[in-house]
Amino acid sequence: MAPSPFVVAIDGPAGSGKSTIARLLARKIGASYLDTGALYRAIAFYLDGRSVPPEEGEPLRCALAELTVSLRGERVFLGDEDVTDRIRTPRVDSIVSRYAALGPVRESLLDLQRSQSRLGPLVADGRDMGTVVFPEADVKIFLSASPEERARRRWRELVDRGETLTCEEVLFQVIRRDRIDSDRTLAPLREAEGAFLVDTTDLSVEEVLSHLCGLMKLDLSGR
Ligand code: DC
Repeated sequence: MAPSPFVVAIDGPAGSGKSTIARLLARKIGASYLDTGALYRAIAFYLDGRSVPPEEGEPLRCALAELTVSLRGERVFLGDEDVTDRIRTPRVDSIVSRYAALGPVRESLLDLQRSQSRLGPLVADGRDMGTVVFPEADVKIFLSASPEERARRRWRELVDRGETLTCEEVLFQVIRRDRIDSDRTLAPLREAEGAFLVDTTDLSVEEVLSHLCGLMKLDLSGR
């Protein structure tokens, strides 16, 4: 039997530092990086662009049947179109949670996510990596940070991209998105059993990374 792939599953709310940390950790351990939020963003971008409402039904089913989401490295494609840079807008921020709560949307992404771990070692981040997509992950991590700090990080990112929102507006959105992601019935944001919990509020990226490397060494040596 082929050895099972090495997977690090990282979950946490918006702005907890998941993507930055997961990408750096992947580089450090020679793994690929999978940003599953980008997949949900791509689908939301597509459905919103076609005015498909965020509810189950025939319009959603038909739109999903016509849609091909794929990855080329870390770039996300809808059909042949690279949408990686078009899915990080305030518009997509504000609609994505509603689409991500729908069963058909989540099911449509399951195989694509799992197939990435068959290509080699993987660090994957999202909301349900350790609970649903990779329940057998070798290492599970749950990152958190205060809502204010998470909003500040997201706001900085948006301002750097030329957006003109206030930090309060971003905080409002972050709290709203947390609520939808945590309260939904399907694959809600939860700490996976056995996950390491790390609060990144007062930690630099380097501090989080070195803390995680320490935890992983301990965990893997104990197996
Ligand atoms: O991590 P992000 O902010 O790019 O994620 C965008 C949205 O996608 C977020 O509101 C929750 C959803 N999501 C999800 O439901 N499951 C995942 N594995 C990843 C993201």
